[in-house]
Amino acid sequence: MKKKIVILSGAGISAESGIKTFRDSGGLWESYDVQEVASIDGWYANPQLVNDFYNERRKQLKEAEPNQAHRIIAELERDFDVTVITQNVDDLHDRAGSSHIIHLHGELCKICNESKSYTVDIGYEPLEYGRLAPDGTLFRPFIVWFGEAVPLLLDAINEVKTADIVIIIGTSLNVYPAASLFEYAPRNSLIYLIDPNEVSVSSSRIEWIKEKATVGMELLKTKLYDLL
Ligand code: OAD
Repeated sequence: MKKKIVILSGAGISAESGIKTFRDSGGLWESYDVQEVASIDGWYANPQLVNDFYNERRKQLKEAEPNQAHRIIAELERDFDVTVITQNVDDLHDRAGSSHIIHLHGELCKICNESKSYTVDIGYEPLEYGRLAPDGTLFRPFIVWFGEAVPLLLDAINEVKTADIVIIIGTSLNVYPAASLFEYAPRNSLIYLIDPNEVSVSSSRIEWIKEKATVGMELLKTKLYDLL
């Protein structure tokens, strides 16, 4: 049986594709107030502002391409059973060819009705403010905002619980519950972290590869194949 790898990715994996992270210097939360543009209260307070913010993200995503880190993760499927659990709302893992992806925080290329029971693929197009879903509610970006439940959390936990290898890549581990997912990894599993900067995590079990995503994934790929 193939060994199971669970990837826990965050904004840093897409940084080399030209997508800004949130909390690095120059990151999105330096220019925007997170509560205004990425919380359910922000949406109710000013939906148009929130809409504009995600329209801009979609436009930038259209210009971006998956990088070597996304591609290596997709290629690992040849020899490993790989599940990607990403906090990213971009579609770069999808475009790189990964086939089992849990988008924990939603997907930029989709919009939904208020209750999120109905989604539409919008691709990289702007969502015209005021557009109504079939149930008469305002269409909104299909994003899990601060203050909202994380519907795919249990699925994600179950994946991590059965991992042989967990790879945390490009996340500052600031946002819960995503940040605690690696703690569900079985005791005898291997846990790697790829990040060029310090990440506030205290676990002696984690092997830190202090590199950017593309370089770190190349290095780790060699290690993973040595395990076979
Ligand atoms: P952050 O911006 O908090 O963290 C990005 C991480 O990527 C940091 O640890 C950086 O050091 C690292 N990094 C930067 N460049 C990198 C590179 N080239 N290769 C590898 N790592 C690099 O982003 P997240 O942890 O993903 O949620 O943020 C989590 C959530 O907070 C997001 O999903 C988003 C945000 O608010 C919502 O908006 C709901």
